[in-house]
Amino acid sequence: MNDKNRRLVVISNRLPLAVSREEGEWRIRKSAGGLVSALQPVVKDHHGLWIGWPGCGDEAPCRALLDDFSGREGFSLEGVPLSEEEVERFYWGFSNESLWPLFHDLLGYCRFDIENWRSYVEVNGHFAETVAKAAQKDDLIWVQDYQLILVGQALRNLGFAQNLAFFQHIPFPSLDLFWRLPWKDEILRGLLAYDLIGFQTSRDRRNFVHCVVTLVPGAEVLQRRRHITLLKVGERLVTVGHFPISIDYNEYNNLAQSPEVVAEAKSLRSKYGDHKLVLGLDRLDYTKGVPERFLAFERALEKYPELQQRITLLQVVVPSRSLIPDYRNLKGMVEQMAGRINGRFAVPGWTPIQYYFRHLTQTQLLAHYLSAEIGLVTPLRDGMNLVSKEYCAANVNLNGVLILSEFAGAAEQLGSSALLVNPYDIDGTADAISYAYGMSAEEKRHRMLRLRIAISRNNVHRWARNFLEEMKSPR
Ligand code: G6P
Repeated sequence: MNDKNRRLVVISNRLPLAVSREEGEWRIRKSAGGLVSALQPVVKDHHGLWIGWPGCGDEAPCRALLDDFSGREGFSLEGVPLSEEEVERFYWGFSNESLWPLFHDLLGYCRFDIENWRSYVEVNGHFAETVAKAAQKDDLIWVQDYQLILVGQALRNLGFAQNLAFFQHIPFPSLDLFWRLPWKDEILRGLLAYDLIGFQTSRDRRNFVHCVVTLVPGAEVLQRRRHITLLKVGERLVTVGHFPISIDYNEYNNLAQSPEVVAEAKSLRSKYGDHKLVLGLDRLDYTKGVPERFLAFERALEKYPELQQRITLLQVVVPSRSLIPDYRNLKGMVEQMAGRINGRFAVPGWTPIQYYFRHLTQTQLLAHYLSAEIGLVTPLRDGMNLVSKEYCAANVNLNGVLILSEFAGAAEQLGSSALLVNPYDIDGTADAISYAYGMSAEEKRHRMLRLRIAISRNNVHRWARNFLEEMKSPR
């Protein structure tokens, strides 16, 4: 079959929409997070099939809701419903209280529980059964992210022989950290069931290869190329690459110039007078470094008093995983810190931190990007961080400055034109805020142009093309 005609089947824990019951009615809401926003244009472009959890169990009239969405978006959807207990153990438990914090280098947040692990194995098996039912012989099967590492192996157990690929959206930890996982061998063996494994950065790829050659008996590196390492594990060859994910640059660039966004940005801007806006925009997550960011902003106001009444931190936190106690505690802590810092510095007409806990529509999101003179993206660790790329793609006036954590995957591509900071270094981040505030229009323009060129060249369609070409290339 002509390669061009092969159907793309993407499998991820979340579908791009979540079905939930609100006030007695079934509703669908767009899912949040980098994975969905990056993959949606790719699946759409390929008229593919997307398999995932629709956010509900068997009780919902899923088929009708999914078909309705498919009809509008131009790609097909297949739901894998999960029971409450599966959501509790597989999703909240193992995926988000074991793998998520461990892979983000935050061992202190990890909880390891054998029942959660068992549920993870079982649910990965359910996903594999759905794939086996839906897939056709020439499909390109592409499994996504840490929640579904074992789907490939479960497909092999069902007798699936065709090529299987996996992409990890979050970081892969160093050997020392990975070693702490009680099921480290099972996770590595699960990953090695794929023919192609993609990571976001060269560091993630190196960490993974280091773990494999140290922990898997007989595994060896056969070949190293710039983006690819070829591993031999017993009789099998496994290709490991790094493919930095991106955004649909043109979409953000065009939307930022649309009359709705320009009008919304004008109205947002008018609320803050002539204060410069520093934007923080994150899912509620302890990996995003919001408390550290608040401390750095406070330090900037202290150390550089001329910034007082001249800049405002506009921090939007998008609700996420709020059933996990660590996430709920984080929300309380962030609210309390905003209150304390505002109490300390606010004067009539100026509140230093404007904090919102809410979802934004796409127009509002773009208006926030367009209005902010500084994008403050300071995760403690992040697979890529697409907010940093979206902020630049929307900065059509070339008057914004990106301050970026060196622990975001995006730093590998954007580091030379953004202001790089260590988010744990409160004083250093405060200095960067002050530097960004005083940066000349010419320097801003120059840096932003380079950022935008880097992102437009390496857009999400190129990311998918590179990955899919590697997937199709003969092994
Ligand atoms: C990150 C992960 C995704 C996840 C998203 C939202 O981007 O890489 O796999 O879907 O966060 O998190 P949630 O738990 O709501 O799916």
